[in-house]
Amino acid sequence: MTNLKKAIAILIIGLFCTSCTKAIIDENGSTTTSDTITYTEHIQPIMFNNCTTCHAGETPLGGLDLSSYATVRTSTEYGNLIDRINNVSNPMPASGLLPENKRQMIGKWSENGFLE
Ligand code: HEC
Repeated sequence: MTNLKKAIAILIIGLFCTSCTKAIIDENGSTTTSDTITYTEHIQPIMFNNCTTCHAGETPLGGLDLSSYATVRTSTEYGNLIDRINNVSNPMPASGLLPENKRQMIGKWSENGFLE
């Protein structure tokens, strides 16, 4: 009986540890809440993977270039970038909203003063 109790206790502790580890990994993986957001590390990859096919080059679509820190910052700080990436009825990219963690990351970058 005591062995069984021990086994159960170990199992429960085991489950606990697994879920703890998993939570930590998930949080780091999505980089939403606690990490410092910088343009180079977080924002630039989002722009290059999702936006610059249209928003770069000599004639960027919508007249909006998103290929540099300065232009992305300007569009986020003074333009409608944050509005458009969260706009369900008129989203950017038009094909559909980005995953929520990426949109939150851009918001957080803005709130934290556009670290480069
Ligand atoms: C497939 C091409 C394409 C992709 C990819 C794309 N856009 Fe656009 N974007 C456009 C076009 C075309 C317009 C102009 C028409 C409009 O406003 O809907 C536009 C307009 C915008 C505007 C409004 C500009 C203004 O002055 O009103 C913003 C902000 C914007 N895009 C941000 C983004 C961001 C951020 C991404 C990536 C997350 C992105 N776009 C991805 C084609 C694209």
